[in-house]
Amino acid sequence: MSHPLISNFVTELKTMTSETRDPATIIKQVSPILQSLAADTSWVKPAYYECDDDQGFGITILNEEPNNTLLVEAICWLPGRGVAPHDHQTWGMVVGIDGVEVNVDWTRRDDGSKEGFADIENTKETDVTNGIIVSFMPDDIHGVRNDGDVPSLSLHVYGVTPASLNRSEFDPINKTQKPCPQRKRTFASA
Ligand SMILES: [Fe+2]
Repeated sequence: MSHPLISNFVTELKTMTSETRDPATIIKQVSPILQSLAADTSWVKPAYYECDDDQGFGITILNEEPNNTLLVEAICWLPGRGVAPHDHQTWGMVVGIDGVEVNVDWTRRDDGSKEGFADIENTKETDVTNGIIVSFMPDDIHGVRNDGDVPSLSLHVYGVTPASLNRSEFDPINKTQKPCPQRKRTFASA
C-alpha cells in the first residue's frame, strides 16, 4: 500500500484524466496537488534516495497503471550527474522535493526531416527546488543536471509511462537523434 498522500493523488489523477485528455488542462489541475506534495513530504522514504551509480540517478515507481498510464515516480539525481536531452511522447510534470536539480529546456531548430539528425539549442534553465514545477508537452525536449554537492529528489508524473513509448534522446554536440535508452527502474516496496 502506498502512502495515503500518493494514493489520494493517484485517485485524483484518475478522475482528472477521465474528464479531459487535454495536457494543458491536466497540468493546470495537477499543479496544486504537486505543490502540496512538496510542502508535506511525509510520503518520502529513504529508499527513494537510492541511485544507480552507472545511470547517475535512481527511479522509484510509486504508481503505474496496468495499461502503462499515470506513472508517478520519485527520481534522485546524484551530485554532478544528469541525463541527456530527451522527449517523453506524453505530458509530464516534475516538482522539486529536496535539493536542487537544473531542468534544461531545449528547442529544436531543424524540421525533423533528416533521419537521425536533430539540431537543438539550450533555451532555458530552471533551478528546480522544493515546490518548483516544470511541465512538458509530448514533443518537448529537456535534460537534467545536478550541479550541487548533494543528491536531489523530485516527484514526476506522466500521462503514459515514457518507457512504453517510442521516444528519442538527443546529442546537441553531434546533432543526433536516436532511440532513448531504457532506464533502470525500481518499484517502491509496500
Ligand atoms: Fe525527462
